Amino acid sequence: MNEVKSIKNICCIGAGYVGGPTMAVIAQRCPHINVNVVDLNAQRIADWNDANLDKLPIYEPGLADVIRDARGRNLFFSTDVEKGIDEADMIFISVNTPTKTYGVGKGMAADLKFIELCARQIAQVAKNDKIIVEKSTLPVRTAEALRTILHSTGNGVNFDILSSPEFLAEGTAIQDLHNPDRFLIGGEQTERGEAAVQSLVDIYLNWVPRENIVTTRVWSSELSKLTANAFLAQRVSSINAISALCEKTGADVDEIARAIGKDSRIGAKFLKSSVGFGGSCFQKDILNLVYLCRHFNLREVADYWEQVIKMNDYQKHRFSKNIIDSLFNTVSGKKIAFLGWAFKKDTNDTRETAAMYIADELLQDRAEIHVYDPKVSEEQIFADLEYLQTHRVGQYVEQGEIMSMEEIRSLVTVHKDPYNTMQSAHAIAILTEWDEFKTYDWEKVYNDMLKPAFVFDGRNIVDKDQLDAIGFDVYNIGKGK
Ligand code: UDX
Ligand code: ADP
Repeated sequence: MNEVKSIKNICCIGAGYVGGPTMAVIAQRCPHINVNVVDLNAQRIADWNDANLDKLPIYEPGLADVIRDARGRNLFFSTDVEKGIDEADMIFISVNTPTKTYGVGKGMAADLKFIELCARQIAQVAKNDKIIVEKSTLPVRTAEALRTILHSTGNGVNFDILSSPEFLAEGTAIQDLHNPDRFLIGGEQTERGEAAVQSLVDIYLNWVPRENIVTTRVWSSELSKLTANAFLAQRVSSINAISALCEKTGADVDEIARAIGKDSRIGAKFLKSSVGFGGSCFQKDILNLVYLCRHFNLREVADYWEQVIKMNDYQKHRFSKNIIDSLFNTVSGKKIAFLGWAFKKDTNDTRETAAMYIADELLQDRAEIHVYDPKVSEEQIFADLEYLQTHRVGQYVEQGEIMSMEEIRSLVTVHKDPYNTMQSAHAIAILTEWDEFKTYDWEKVYNDMLKPAFVFDGRNIVDKDQLDAIGFDVYNIGKGK
């Protein structure tokens, strides 16, 4: 094996949901390494540097404590991308890779333009050898593309490319980073490649036992990330498929999840039936997988995985349709209170959140939507709705009418107080499983609502028996009426 480089300076390009927390934990656990996180977005960097830790650009339980430990000591946030690249021995790429919205592969393939830009910039700036680590989730063989760009534009500098996909889940990112089930590193199977892998292993070893660090070839690492997300999403779609059958037969999907989850071969996690999965990864990664399979002419494999997305679209559509059907076939002019907008609890991230798809379908019928989410800002909610007007995907929403922002603003109100949100509403839709929703004064909510007072619990979190007893008309996912 070549000499293993001991890393003193890390640069991470991209200060988002992946780059921010991951680098914060590396800096916290490796005080001997300088970690510079750089981003083009000046506001984001200013927020990461804000003395008031409530202003961090992303909300994650435990993140503020990690930042307090490391920021200014060996963790720095900056917009100076070139300086960050120049000083680093190891560069993590954590930029966003959304689904393409134009041209070849539109709606399916990952958009690699941000990655490509990074590679070109690294090639231009680098004056000494560097290890490049792909952290963002990428299609298989992106490392190859990176290598081509780096080596054809670079000025005689050697680049070793590793894949080390991030498996953290939002809302539990810090816990996942502190105690990962595994860290994965893919590298080239050459002496240089193995030395580069060892450099990264040595960083993770500062807090992770060696048996939890898995090393593979580069392409296996890239494909493992897509596969892990596809398997997790498939479990959610599988239990959601059963929830539809439960509603027809009177079985209870949560009881089924408990019963099958006891089987150690199945396991209890990711069996919570819901209004549909969201987040930046599941849909994007499966679409990516499907695109790859189609590219390699594996039609059956592509169709198999695509069904996971179709089931998720169906689940969201079923939920909106149930609201409209139950409210006597129209929600036009009716006040629908949304509890939650984030794609899951304990995050302010709203990418692909089911809530925006449900809102969109109800807005098509001219509902008046009132939203409360403890962590999502009003600007974000309007930005999501605006984005959706021109980026609808999925078999149930594609044909939807494009609404102007003026029209959307006349129908949607964002609140800071949950009780105001629900006052005089015809119905409440629970879209995110925030803990605080369980402890509301539901008697008071009922008294202030129009009757019949409907609750559509898209997360099965409130106590149905209690709400039934108060007088609500409660609809759950996967439970017969
Ligand atoms: C996921 C993967 O878990 C993580 O390993 C990867 O790095 C990124 O993608 P994330 O999207 O942050 O993480 O959250 P996750 O907890 O996986 O939830 C995804 C979606 O599935 C959420 O909308 C969640 O509400 C939903 N979900 C999850 C369910 O509906 N039921 C479940 O049982 C679990
Ligand atoms: P993720 O969930 O993958 O972390 P985010 O969108 O939260 O995605 O974060 C990605 C970050 O990468 C954004 O803050 C964006 O501004 C930044 N970014 C994208 N391209 C570049 C680039 N070429 N140089 C620096 N930062 C970039």
